[in-house]
Amino acid sequence: MANKIKIALIGYGKMGKEIDTLCQNSKDFEVVSISLKNKSEKLDLKGIAKADIAIDFTSRDVVLKNIEEVAKLGVNMVVGTTGWYEDIDKVKKIVEKNKIGLIYSPNFSVGVNVFFKMMDEAAKLFSKFPEYDTYGLEIHHKAKLDSPSGTALKIAGKIKNLNFHSVRAGSNPGFHEVVFDSLADKITFSHQAYNRIGFAKGVLKAAKIIKGKKGIYIFEDVLN
Ligand SMILES: NC(=O)c1ccc[n+]([C@@H]2O[C@H](COP(=O)([O-])OP(=O)(O)OC[C@H]3O[C@@H](n4cnc5c(N)ncnc54)[C@H](OP(=O)(O)O)[C@@H]3O)[C@@H](O)[C@H]2O)c1
Repeated sequence: MANKIKIALIGYGKMGKEIDTLCQNSKDFEVVSISLKNKSEKLDLKGIAKADIAIDFTSRDVVLKNIEEVAKLGVNMVVGTTGWYEDIDKVKKIVEKNKIGLIYSPNFSVGVNVFFKMMDEAAKLFSKFPEYDTYGLEIHHKAKLDSPSGTALKIAGKIKNLNFHSVRAGSNPGFHEVVFDSLADKITFSHQAYNRIGFAKGVLKAAKIIKGKKGIYIFEDVLN
């Protein structure tokens, strides 16, 4: 059997556990290290050094430090944690200095990445018709820290005058809706994640993409 891709999980909450389950049932991946199962733990640097790819699903408070530490080990990364994008220039420097590969996305579900492309097209089409007002709505479970979501910010970056309203309640794993509203009619685009499997599958696709590469990549740009 071909060698499996060795994964180090950093963060073992909702997403870390979902990715672990997929790896356990996969012929292509094995988890060799799990760090930061809770806030009182330290990074398992020895274990991470043995991995092909480290996958970070922690929080914006610790993700930058994790990227610095993992980069020093020369290990490539998939970063799913959101809320840190104002530090993108710092991260680019860390990636270049340590000659690693890093891929990130506010949303690793393939469906949402198709949605991103649709939003590029919608932005072009609706720019010719100023009679349409735009607004966005995103709903996430009550434990989600960042608001608006990284996905909402990414969509808002594509469409002029688009502001998102955020709801944090219940257990929704992720809902995003963009509405174009005129006096005559309304066009609605929406994506509802039913669970976290789509994110985890996308993360493992990203792990395959980034293995052996150098530099920084956005999942949306390299998915196809
Ligand atoms: N890109 C995507 O597709 C995508 C999809 C879903 C979620 N996300 C993002 O991924 C991140 C994690 O999401 P999640 O739902 O898995 O969160 P979660 O269930 O809260 O899990 C986070 C994990 O990281 C640990 N952690 C958090 N802060 C830490 C700190 N300061 N020091 C050490 N360990 C820490 C947590 O430990 P404790 O249990 O002790 O807090 C837990 O093990 C969030 O930023 C979320 O927005 C991205």
